[in-house]
Amino acid sequence: MNIAVISYSFTGNNQLLAGSVAKELSAEHIQISEPKTRTMGSIALDMMFSRTPQVQPAPETMESYDLLLFFGPVWMGHVAAPLRAYLKYLKSHPQRYGFLSISGGADGPNPKLTGDLRKRAGADPAVLIDLHIADLLPNREKTVRKDTTAYRLNDSDIHRLTYTMMKTIRDVI
Ligand SMILES: Cc1cc2nc3c(=O)[nH]c(=O)nc-3n(C[C@H](O)[C@H](O)[C@H](O)COP(=O)(O)O)c2cc1C
Repeated sequence: MNIAVISYSFTGNNQLLAGSVAKELSAEHIQISEPKTRTMGSIALDMMFSRTPQVQPAPETMESYDLLLFFGPVWMGHVAAPLRAYLKYLKSHPQRYGFLSISGGADGPNPKLTGDLRKRAGADPAVLIDLHIADLLPNREKTVRKDTTAYRLNDSDIHRLTYTMMKTIRDVI
């Protein structure tokens, strides 16, 4: 099966995890970049006004794969804005896809993710995994947003999270 791992990352966590999963799958790892510099301000504006920012590479490059595994952060309960152009492309060019994330989780799960993916891609993901940084930290009940947003995955986290994700991914490939 021809799988593409496609990642967007603002602070590096999802990029590292995507790279590790891609290696496990012997899949190509495509990293999304933005021509405009991303800031906290532009995150807030894109999420509040549901904007779809420009990204590279063009979504058309995904055409030849059997399964697309998107990695990216959750922002304000939704899939990060730089993944939107790819999800929108799937609406007119349906393909099997998944969304995988290491998000903060300081406020608990992100219940709007499934609906956001369905609305934007026009179909449910074959796999949806949202793992949380809060679960990696020692004092789960005292963890606040500031702690999770500042956290950067280490090698041991990557190893554990890759193992966890692979157990589910194997069921869909
Ligand atoms: C503006 C902003 C909003 C965020 N909103 C959420 C959220 O709603 N839910 C969540 O679980 N994590 C949230 N996070 C935490 C990120 O998902 C988390 O830090 C993630 O690991 C960052 O991934 P990256 O390093 O690949 O960019 C938010 C982070 C930022 C910067």
